[in-house]
Amino acid sequence: MNILLLGSGGREHALAQKIAESKHCTNLFIAPGNPGTKSLGTNINVSATDFHSIKKIALENNIEMLVVGPEAPLVEGIFDFFKQDEALQHIPVLGPSKVGAQLEGSKSFSKAFMQRNAIPTAAYAEFTQQNIEDGIDYLQQQKTPIVLKADGLAAGKGVLICSTLEEALQEFKAMLDGKFGDASAKVVVEEFMDGIEFSVFVLTNGKEYKILPTAKDYKRIGEGDTGLNTGGMGAVSPPPFVTDEMMHVVETTIVQPTIQGLAKENITYFGFVYVGLMYLKTGELKVVEYNCRMGDPETEVVFPRIKSDIIELFQATFDGSLSSFELEIDERAATTIILASGGYPEEFEKGKIISGIDTVKDSIVFHCGTKDDEQGKLYTNGGRVLAVTSLANDWKNAIKISNENAHKISFENKYFRKDIGFDLG
Ligand code: AMP
Ligand code: GLY
Repeated sequence: MNILLLGSGGREHALAQKIAESKHCTNLFIAPGNPGTKSLGTNINVSATDFHSIKKIALENNIEMLVVGPEAPLVEGIFDFFKQDEALQHIPVLGPSKVGAQLEGSKSFSKAFMQRNAIPTAAYAEFTQQNIEDGIDYLQQQKTPIVLKADGLAAGKGVLICSTLEEALQEFKAMLDGKFGDASAKVVVEEFMDGIEFSVFVLTNGKEYKILPTAKDYKRIGEGDTGLNTGGMGAVSPPPFVTDEMMHVVETTIVQPTIQGLAKENITYFGFVYVGLMYLKTGELKVVEYNCRMGDPETEVVFPRIKSDIIELFQATFDGSLSSFELEIDERAATTIILASGGYPEEFEKGKIISGIDTVKDSIVFHCGTKDDEQGKLYTNGGRVLAVTSLANDWKNAIKISNENAHKISFENKYFRKDIGFDLG
């Protein structure tokens, strides 16, 4: 089978590795891919949101399955683009329809979806410039801290946790005034949930589902979960505090109603639902957010633990045999540490020479933001540069290996968190 994978980060490198390992994969193409995916298939230098060029690639290379990594092409409707095109509609697309992608693309849509389907989540209200005065009244009646969310995609920056009413009022007005452009033309105001976060990844065809390994990601730049939010600085799978009892509650009160909601509302959805969860201090489990794709860096710990043939798993999603698919999981724990460019998530430099990857032992190094030159020399090319993943009998041993190897890789201004898992006991 000829497969086209869209995206260019660590998530796509980890997906590409599993796809390339499949006995059903004849040719793998990655658009645009990165230096890490080069050894697994053919990189084609086309953006994941350039649908017309993707169509050309799909036809020229006789593509038989499209796998979509990032959210942008999904929210922009790549699934619908394929299904509405006579030459492309026969190609199975792993990724939700444009409406399905609204679970991530619009906080307002996802909160209303959860409310309609009785899925536990924080209480909320939403406002625009039209009813800004109602919003101000509403905020004055709430407890602090309070959470403000831009409705649309805001590059992971659109969520503000305000500790005082003053701050909340000021930010609320700034958001409606365009702080995050169109994304904050509507603002969701949400009750603050106090607890520990983890994520459940579900593969679904809109009717059946399969729960993949769980993970916990470390979003803050600083040790002890301090400082600015990032795309994620490390991850652990499975988070050791997640018990079978908790997973039973998640499956029955969150996953099943989510899939039933998609079916009931006729939302076409072949792909991943990333369910961000809060395990509250009260013991309740509530949804923080949905994403319409796998997480990054969570993919770098979830997929290395999947032993089943990934194309067979994807095929089962399209065939309607997902519920009977026997997913084989590596019982070992996986951890990953992100090596970032100093300054990230604010300003950082690119183009620093990377060395030492060849000295890494017992870890997998996934490329997140790298580029290479004609001689094959490797350079930094993003805020998050590499993900160092390790597997071991427990997460503490795995993180030790990731840590040792993180030290062996060098580039100017390398930064990584040395405390991934600090809160796991
Ligand atoms: P989101 O984009 O909705 O996932 O929000 C980004 C991050 O903000 C989450 O991963 C949480 O750490 C935090 N967050 C979002 N909503 C809440 C909430 N209602 N209570 C506490 N923290 C939240
Ligand atoms: N690591 C968080 C995300 O992928 O959204």
